[in-house]
Amino acid sequence: MTKPTTTQAGAPIASDEHSLTTGPDGVTALHDRFLVEKLASFNRERVPERNPHAKGGGAFGEFVVTEDVSQFTKAAVFQKGAKSETILRFSSVAGEQGSPDTWRDVRGFALRFYTTEGNYDIVGNNTPVFFLRDAMKFPDFIHSQKRMGDSGLRNGDMQWDFWTLSPESAHQVTYLMGDRGLSKSWRHLNGYGSHTYQWINAAGERFWVQYHFHSRQGVELMEAAEAERIAGEDADYYRRDLFEAIAKGDYPSWDVSVQIMPYDDAKTYRFNPFDMTKVWSHKDYPLIPVGHFTLNRNPESFFAQIEQSAFSPSNMVPGTDISPDKMLMARVFSYPDAQRNRIGANYNQLPVNQPHASEARNYQHEGAMNYKIGDAADRVYTPNSFGGPAAQPELAGEGGWASDGELMRSAQTLHSEDDDFGQAGTLYRDVFSDESKARFIETLTGQGRGITIPEILERFYWYWGSVDAELGATLRKTVPGNGDTANEEADPVGVGPAE
Ligand code: HEM
Repeated sequence: MTKPTTTQAGAPIASDEHSLTTGPDGVTALHDRFLVEKLASFNRERVPERNPHAKGGGAFGEFVVTEDVSQFTKAAVFQKGAKSETILRFSSVAGEQGSPDTWRDVRGFALRFYTTEGNYDIVGNNTPVFFLRDAMKFPDFIHSQKRMGDSGLRNGDMQWDFWTLSPESAHQVTYLMGDRGLSKSWRHLNGYGSHTYQWINAAGERFWVQYHFHSRQGVELMEAAEAERIAGEDADYYRRDLFEAIAKGDYPSWDVSVQIMPYDDAKTYRFNPFDMTKVWSHKDYPLIPVGHFTLNRNPESFFAQIEQSAFSPSNMVPGTDISPDKMLMARVFSYPDAQRNRIGANYNQLPVNQPHASEARNYQHEGAMNYKIGDAADRVYTPNSFGGPAAQPELAGEGGWASDGELMRSAQTLHSEDDDFGQAGTLYRDVFSDESKARFIETLTGQGRGITIPEILERFYWYWGSVDAELGATLRKTVPGNGDTANEEADPVGVGPAE
């Protein structure tokens, strides 16, 4: 039998289709509480979209540890044999909620483990590095990728102006303009923690760690022309692909491995390990396998479980910590702040955000939409004499690091091989295949043609010439159309074909 529609207070309503009026054609009564509640609810359906990483999708799964890495961390989630529920949200960075999935961009890879010691989030990307090394520049970077203040349009001059004035971006921009900027699907990309994080073992020894999540589906690219076509035909292509694959039991999975650097190596390693524009050579610090995770469960409510999911680098567990990476230290503040604004003060009480394998227990209480009645209901302070929870520092397992110096505003210390362009050049020359190089030059040629301000174009040549002299010389020929050139769209990143 059909169940009655009710108000939010549970009382049956009088009609699903007719509002209360004086006669069939008369004025609407303000006391039509069913109509008022329905419209008011509709007016409040949206929460602000994420700024950035607004467009995305995700699923739940399971992480299994198959190797013994207990010599590096005591975190329960990384002990051999441990199984943890996970959620992974993929995203693009700059586009808004409705933007096409297949616009060229870095892809977000936000992974949560619901562990027995609390939620552990690794909020990374599909590249092992980033555009910047100091959080002070992050809002400027995102502004340059979003829209102009006057026209509301995205703009290639703005993007390249920022990048070429911020040469530390070169390594990440090389990834972005290369094959990683356009993946076949979210299932066909790798994830990275990107930052240097910290692990602490049971004896209290500390290690620096980099996370790698390698797709068992393989890393596959999408050709630019195909991406443009799909952007017009199916804006939700990646979201659909993931949901449909999981719905039919084709579960994607990723191998989890780490690079481990002994604590003291950080001082002398040839690259500053806390500079997130750099990778650690795999020859210096080889990959150590940990386990794998599989996505096997679609959300039941996209809004409740994906849109309201709140990932944060501040969600750490005993045996893990951050590092003195200036980006990471700021992110620990920024995400919960964004989420209190985006979702509300008690966002961590929502089912997707509350711990699933442990319990939240503290003296923070009340506030908008609080529904939790916890241990501290009758004793709302600590210390107390009534057996309420108390901090046990030995359980927290924080790492920390030695730090002693004057407060100052300064660039990070350069190590022996640190510069802005070296690793970008290596990526281009030694890692890209010949086909990848050809696609890369084609993409950059299109990008160069989208730049309308001569001064910025000149810096564009200088930037790529600094990555690789021959590459710079090639672009000087192809962009004006004087050399061998393919003809990609002359558009800012993420805008699609020229009309
Ligand atoms: C100082 C630098 C950064 C700041 C201030 C920052 C800030 C933010 C903010 C405010 C959000 C929206 C959060 C929300 O509303 O839930 C976000 C999302 C995101 N950021 Fe960052 N970000 C920074 C750097 C990075 C880096 C370096 C990475 C990757 C290595 C990254 C990956 C992501 C991802 C994947 C998301 C989407 C998370 C999700 O799926 O919900 N961000 N960022």
